[in-house]
Parts: sequence; structure tokens; C-alpha cells
Amino acid sequence: MTTSPLTVVRGGTVVESSWSGLADLVMRDGKIIAIAEPGGLIPDGATVLDATGKLVMPGGVDPHCHVGFTSGEFTSLDSYAECTTAAVFGGTTTIIDFAIPRPGEDPLDAADKLRTKATEGLCDSALHGCVVEWDDTTADQLATMAAAGIRTVKMFTTYAGESMADEHTILRTMQTTRDLGGMVIIHCESDAIVGDAQNAAASCGHIDAAGMAATRPELAETASVAAVLAIAESQRAPVYFVHQSSAAAVELVADARKRGLVAFTEVVAHHVTLDDSEYQGSEPERFVCCPPLRSRGTVDGLGKHLFTGHITTIGSDHCCYDTVQKRQHRHDVRHMPNGLPGVETRLPVVFSKFVAANGLSPSRFVQLTAANPARTNGLYPRKGSIMPGSDADVAIWDPDLEWTVSDADLHMATDYTPYEGRRLRGKPVTVVVGGHVVVHDGILVDDTPRGRHLPAAPLDFTSMC
Ligand code: URP
Ligand code: ZN
Ligand code: ZN
Repeated sequence: MTTSPLTVVRGGTVVESSWSGLADLVMRDGKIIAIAEPGGLIPDGATVLDATGKLVMPGGVDPHCHVGFTSGEFTSLDSYAECTTAAVFGGTTTIIDFAIPRPGEDPLDAADKLRTKATEGLCDSALHGCVVEWDDTTADQLATMAAAGIRTVKMFTTYAGESMADEHTILRTMQTTRDLGGMVIIHCESDAIVGDAQNAAASCGHIDAAGMAATRPELAETASVAAVLAIAESQRAPVYFVHQSSAAAVELVADARKRGLVAFTEVVAHHVTLDDSEYQGSEPERFVCCPPLRSRGTVDGLGKHLFTGHITTIGSDHCCYDTVQKRQHRHDVRHMPNGLPGVETRLPVVFSKFVAANGLSPSRFVQLTAANPARTNGLYPRKGSIMPGSDADVAIWDPDLEWTVSDADLHMATDYTPYEGRRLRGKPVTVVVGGHVVVHDGILVDDTPRGRHLPAAPLDFTSMC
């Protein structure tokens, strides 16, 4: 009988979301098959990856990643091959993209278009659906998507005329996804408050990128979070808030959880690492995103909640626009492409600031960046975990490596990074995807596209950390 070869990750500290310790990892046929005592006998023919002095973590799961995303007149620049290559270099081995319908398009058609793209990726991917308007076909479309494993449904309370949904649509979508074992995931900013703030900025000549922060005030976010929580509570429907940007917004969700609602907070890497002083720099347009970067005090207040347990996941909100696109309407943020490139830098910037410099435990880091994103998307424990039976997606980190971020060394399909010149500590050096070593000592050694579309299981909220 012939058996397929083993890969052994030897001598490292395995970091799971609930424990860590010295152990060897044994993989075969794309799966983890054992977590073994360190230093055991290795069979002839096995591939051995030396992880001495390193952290061996589950590959990251990025729950918020826009790939080749069209909004208004702009389309972000990456393909699945490009986005997943950058993801893997950054220690992420699963991305979750959004099927956001163009105006007039059906949610199901938007999802069908993207599902087949997964095979172009270097790693696996999943999809969030999206509902903008409710009509008498929407419930059936959501049922069809759920049967195909698309159970999380993105909604927006802003971007009128593009993807904003009204309260009736949000309520009906919550009812329906709840009954399908899914969940609404929602971008909350009151469009009325944003519109008013933009008009005020325009009337005094501050509608350019330098004025971005004032055009989308924190109150726009908290007002919308409160309104959406009320709808979710009325329906006893689970809800997940994407890219929450202030402690006040996070605490509204934490309070609802105390009242018994199943509710989750996602933050994104740039909101816990960058502040609104970037808008006073020489290229403020490079930092235009929604919600905008906040004041230093707000950034620090948000970051503290990584330690309190009130934050469930950390995503990237990756949007790969380049400088030409960002500059085009820099004198009027109402027409600019929103979003920052970040799939490759998400894990290193968070590790450096919170694990290396501020004592967040590596296990909590794994919980926030891999295990909980997998759980909230029906992918756990296949993804986000190192346990026998999980996919063999593993990132071997050098926790002490100091390096300087430079766009020239990154792999995202753009020409800048918002972190240019930053010194970081900690980096994934070798990354295994489905049992294949794809990045080894910082070099791409296998660019075979083996990506699969991952169907989400019905969501199970009982085991959520
Ligand atoms: O600025 C952002 N976040 N752009 C991407 C679309 C969204 O709102 O998530
Ligand atoms: Zn958003
Ligand atoms: Zn987004």
C-alpha cells in the first residue's frame, strides 16, 4: 500500500485560539493529522519544516476583503490570483469576499458571478452575499444562496443610490437569514448625518481628502448601530457589525449582547493602527476610507477593546485602489473611491502593535484573526484552527523579526501601502496552504492556483468566543 507523503512542522510553538505550547504538527493530504510531542521520530520521505524559535499559527481568515470591487466609477485593481498571493505572504490563507450587486442586479446573479473565481486563488475563499432592495424574489434568492453555502449577507445603511438598504429591507433580510442559519453583516453609518456633514464641509470649502474625517462623524456610526440593533432585537436575529471604528460603537453592541442578542463586532486593522493625522499629510487621499480614520483618542479607545473581549474579529476591509484612482477626485471625497489596501498587512500590523508591543496573547491574536472569523462564517474548525481534521493551512511566524514596511516588497496590486516606512516586529516567514508550502522563508515557491469556494455551514453561535 502506498501512502502520500507527510509534512512535519518541527520544533515550533503551536498557537491555537485556546492554548499554545511546543509541539510538532503532522500534515498529510491537505489536512492536519496529528499534533505530536516535540522531537518524535520522523518517517523517511517526510518534508520537514524547521520552526525552532517560531510561532506556528493557523493561517489567518480575513472576513472582510473586497476583490476587484466596483463602486461608482471605480473598480479595485486585483484579481483573485493577486489578492490571494498577497494574502498568503501576509499569513492569511482564507479570504472572504463580497458579492455586492451593481444597481439593478439581483443578489443571486452577483454571487453566481463570483463563486467560480475561487479556483483562480492561491488559497481558499468564501463569499458574503448582499441585499440592497427587497422584492418578492429576495427570500427565494437568499434560500438558494444559503443552500450554496453563502449565509452571511452584507447590508449598508449608507451609500445612497449605490448599495444602501432601507429599514424595511434590513428587517426582512434579518428575518430571512436568521431562519436560514445565516446572519446579516452590516456597515453602519447614518446616510442622513453623513450627507449633512458633507454638505457642511462643501459649503466651507473642506470637502477635499484633507477634510475626510469631519465628513463622516462618529455620531453617524453610533446612531446607525443603535437603529440596526433595535431592528435585530425586534427580530431576535443575529447581527455582525463590520469595521466598527470607535469604542462607543463597540460598547453599544456589547450592551446588546448583555441583553441576550447574538451580536458581533468586527474591527479592521487600519482603524486600530492609523489615526486621522494622516489626512493632514501630503497625500491624504491615500487614507480615504469609510468610516474614516479617527482621532488618536478614538483609535486608542478602540484598541483597548481588543483586550476586553468585546471585539470578535479583525478584518482588513482590503480595497486595492492605486494612487491614480485615489487622486482622481481628491478635491471632493463624495466622488472618491473609498478603501485601503490591507490584505497583506492586516496580520503583521496587528501582531506588531498588540502582541509584540502591548502584550496581547498570541492565542487571542489567533482568536481574533483566524478562529472567530472562521466561526462567524460557518468555516470552523476546517479553517482558523490547528487540530486533527482541519485543513493544513499554517503560518510559521518569526515573532522577533524586525522589518520596515515598503510597498516595493509587498504583493498587492497597487502602488502604495498606508504603512509605508513603519517598523514592525513579527512576520510570517513560511506559509503552508492545503498542505503545500507556498511561501518559504519569504519567497513564493509554489504559485499553483488551488483555491476552492468554501461553503459556509449553518452558523452555530453556541461555541463563539
Ligand atoms: O472605505 C471602505 N470601507 N470601502 C469599501 C466598502 C465598504 O464600505 O466596506
Ligand atoms: Zn463598509
Ligand atoms: Zn468593506
